[in-house]
Amino acid sequence: MPVMSSESEDRTSPANVRAALLRAARMLAEAGDSAPRLTAEVLLGHALGWERVRVLSSLPQPLSRQQWDQYAALVQRRVSGVPLQYITGRQEFYGLSFMVSPAVLIPRPETELLVERAVILAREGGADAPRFVDVGTGSGCVAVAFARQVSYAGGFAVDISPAALAVARENVVRHGTDQRIHLVCCDLLEAFRAVPTFDFILCNLPYVSSSDAGRLDRTVVDHEPHLALFGGESGTEIYARFLPQARLRLRARGHLLIEFDPARLEILRRLLTASGFIVESILEDLQGLPRCIVAGKSDG
Ligand SMILES: C[S@@+](CC[C@H](N)C(=O)[O-])C[C@H]1O[C@@H](n2cnc3c(N)ncnc32)[C@H](O)[C@@H]1O
Repeated sequence: MPVMSSESEDRTSPANVRAALLRAARMLAEAGDSAPRLTAEVLLGHALGWERVRVLSSLPQPLSRQQWDQYAALVQRRVSGVPLQYITGRQEFYGLSFMVSPAVLIPRPETELLVERAVILAREGGADAPRFVDVGTGSGCVAVAFARQVSYAGGFAVDISPAALAVARENVVRHGTDQRIHLVCCDLLEAFRAVPTFDFILCNLPYVSSSDAGRLDRTVVDHEPHLALFGGESGTEIYARFLPQARLRLRARGHLLIEFDPARLEILRRLLTASGFIVESILEDLQGLPRCIVAGKSDG
């Protein structure tokens, strides 16, 4: 993959912010970045500790050799395939800025669907203090966004990865939800007593099948944690273990919300029915694909 347009260009630092952006955008475009100019601006802001608006209003400003070197190192990481969010350490989700690291999945916009529906159900439900658990919390984005919207809710964010939980802890604190979200390191819901305690069980567990690994973008496979991506041979084995646990811990009129692989809808539906759930609704993502399932207890 070509990195610099020419060796001589590489040796001299660009005269000013505008020239640096142009050179970086060209390098990023050659490496296949889908929005090279925007990426160049974000990375320059990150290198210099500037907001993007300051980058855009400083185009004629000179750059020192040291500033260019710092910037070029970041551009080089992006050119080599590292996701922008792991370089800047942040991703927006549900209008909030989350810290991310290679220990966690980068929050995806389709997951906002799950949060949005959980918030509606919580408001409609009218419970004084709904109890929730977010299983496979990663960065904590689902638990934090839900708790921020439903300020009277309290609960848990669970992950099997201690490194992911360390990131979730940063985000729970950053967004002022640490008094209401308790972090637990465990396998699925095993740390919780098998009694109906939760009004909401929210989960975006790993759901890519091992056989579909080749269909994923290389950037995803090479850089995002496999523990967050792959759900077993068929991608649904984890649900076969999880659903009976969830059934025992969900309250009678509670809701289970799961983000899933659209190609596995029928398998998931069968597993839900076999585990004593009834499907209440299926939500589509912005591409019109079924992406989130809402279920309740069949005898609830
Ligand atoms: C697809 S990521 C979702 C992260 C976050 N909830 C989001 O939506 O961006 C799945 C998460 O589940 C965690 N995980 C995988 N297996 C688990 C298990 N058996 N028990 C608990 N968490 C698990 C992974 O470490 C990862 O953080």
